[in-house]
Formats: sequence, structure tokens, C-alpha cells
Amino acid sequence: MSFLVKIREKAREVQQTVVLPEGDDERVVTAAAKIVSLGVAKPIVLGNRETMERIATDLGISLKGVEVIETKNPPKLEPYAEKLAELRAKKGMTVEQAREILLKDPNFYGAMMVKMGDADAMVSGSNSPTANVLRAGLQVVGTRKGIKTVSSVFVMELTERQETYGDVLLFGDCSVIPVPTSEQLADIAEASVHTAQSVIGMQGRVALLTFSTKGSASHPDVDVVIEAGKILEERHVNFPFTAEIQADAAIVKSVARKKCPESKVAGTANILIFPNLAAGNIGYKLVQRLAGANAYGPLIQGLAAPINDLSRGCSVDDIVNLVAITAVQAAGNKK
Ligand code: ACO
Repeated sequence: MSFLVKIREKAREVQQTVVLPEGDDERVVTAAAKIVSLGVAKPIVLGNRETMERIATDLGISLKGVEVIETKNPPKLEPYAEKLAELRAKKGMTVEQAREILLKDPNFYGAMMVKMGDADAMVSGSNSPTANVLRAGLQVVGTRKGIKTVSSVFVMELTERQETYGDVLLFGDCSVIPVPTSEQLADIAEASVHTAQSVIGMQGRVALLTFSTKGSASHPDVDVVIEAGKILEERHVNFPFTAEIQADAAIVKSVARKKCPESKVAGTANILIFPNLAAGNIGYKLVQRLAGANAYGPLIQGLAAPINDLSRGCSVDDIVNLVAITAVQAAGNKK
């Protein structure tokens, strides 16, 4: 069964409420209707009601089951403004400024809905850059209890050579932290294992990648990855991992036997942690384009509730799928 079929089934079971703040976009309106008809979540769409109804009429779709919140005059503006000002008081935000942000940027209103428990999760980004969506998540929802680092993974579903590499691998972090420290790399590894388990029921086998395998090269950048491995050891994490390993040794058994025969993870890793955002972002796009893998995500991990980001070039199905994955992630976070 494909990753998507499984995710849609799980999403139907958990029935989460997902807010979509970009309701003036035709793709979002169409996706909301499809989300209802597939039953993968309960969508709340923010935007101009008239515009949404016009889009629905033009496209011949029904908005039955889609909750619409008018962003010009949103019902909870005052309580949300007060809470947002309280959350950002250390940055000097006043209630007036909070009100202005909530009216101007629907990502903030949507994130406040999640913060206040009026929605379980948010999916945005069809019209805003990644950083804007992430900032709303970081500033409003904040990190999960006991978590310091917000990061992300892509679910990479292979369409060939699955017998060698498995059906699904996770790649992290491909979209949040430009230059992670050793501590952050260790956090990304831990969070990715949690996402693998809670979203796809996969037991993580982690490889912290770099351009050296067990001492084959020395460089300060390699030291950062070695140190991340030491931190994971000190934390006594309950998943198998190997640090300071090249990508081929991480996933190809014959290379692993040659380069690091002592490692129990080398050759069979299913979670690849990249040393920085440049490597991660380039890496997932190359595998997607050259190997024809399906890339789902980025799934933002470490926030108190999921806020996930769409690409601005997303299709209606991309939105529906990310909402289904986000719903499963939201339910998994509550366990
Ligand atoms: N984990 C935990 N907390 C964080 C993180 C993080 N990764 N990043 C920022 N914070 C904290 C900040 O310290 C700040 O805390 P404070 O309010 O107590 O001071 C709070 O979150 C709010 O952060 P901001 O200052 O608003 O945001 P910042 O300027 O730090 O930027 C951002 C964060 C937006 C994630 C930035 O690192 C970024 O732009 N990353 C790259 C995003 C991107 O463009 N990705 C590539 C495209 S995605 C793709 O192709 C799939």
C-alpha cells in the first residue's frame, strides 16, 4: 500500500481540524472541498467569504463541510490580540500591534487558532515564503515541552529500487535551520525518529551524514557531526544511529561493509540527517528529480502543534496530501 493511501486512512481515523489561512487562493478552496469529500480532516479556511463562494461557484464545487472564517472581521480578534501581545511581550508587542498583525497576516491568525486550541494544526505557504509560515509557528505556537529545536523532515517515497533501499526514507533537515550546531543536529535526529514513528510507524535507523566516514577526512565541519554523535551517546537515545558517515556507506550495504564494517546502522539507514540546510535542501531535490522519488513535506517537527509549509508552486493534491499528513502528525503529537 502506498504511503499516501496509508496516510489518508490514518487521517480519516483521527479526524483533526486543520486551518488553511490562504482562502483567497483557488487551489486552497478546491483542496478544502476535496479534504471534506475524502474525509481526511475538518478544514477551516481563512479569507474573504465572497471570494471563496465565487471561486466555488466558478469551479462548480461545494463548500459544504468547510468552515469559513472571514479575515477582515475575525470573530476572536480581541482575545487573540491580547494573547499574542502577552506571548510577544518580551519583544515589546502591544495589543494594538498584535491586532494589526492578526488582521494583516492570516498565518498569525491561523497559528493563534492552533495555539488557543481552536484548530489542531495549520497548513500554509501556497502564497507565502517558508520563513513567514515558520515565524508564525515559532512566535505563536512555540516548541513542544522539552524540545528546544524546530526542524523538518521530508518523507521520501521511492518509486524504484525499493528492494534495496526500502519504500520510505526520511531526510532532515531540508528546510529550517541553515547551519545547525552539534546539539541541533542531535535534536534533529531525535525529532526525526519521533516523526518516523508517529507519522508512518517506522522504526528509525539514523545516519548523520557528512563527507567523511569514520575518520577518512578531517575538517571542522566533520567535527560538528562527530560531536553530534557524542551528544546522542550521552543522551542514551533509544534508537540505532551512526555519526560521521558518507551517504553511500549509510544506505549501500556493500559500501558499508568496506568503509565501516563495525557499524550496525551503516548500509541500512532509513533516516538521513544532513549536516546543513544547503546539503539537505539540495539532496532531497536531487533524489526527487533524478531518482523520481515522491517527496512529501517538509514536515515541521518540534512545534507544540504542527504548522506545515507548502511550496508556492503546490497543486491542489499537494495541499490535500499535506493536510492529511499534518492531521496524522497532530494526532501523533498528542500521544
Ligand atoms: N528552533 C527553535 N527556535 C527557533 C528556531 C528553531 N529552528 N529558529 C528560530 N527560533 C526562535 C528564535 O530564537 C526566536 O525566539 P525568541 O522569540 O525567544 O527570540 C523565535 O523562534 C522567533 O524567531 P524569529 O526571530 O521570528 O525567526 P528567525 O529570524 O530566527 O528565523 C527561520 C527563523 C524563519 C526558521 C529562519 O531560520 C529561516 O529563514 N530558515 C530558512 C527557511 C527557508 O527559507 N528554507 C528553505 C526553503 S524550504 C524548501 O525548499 C522546502
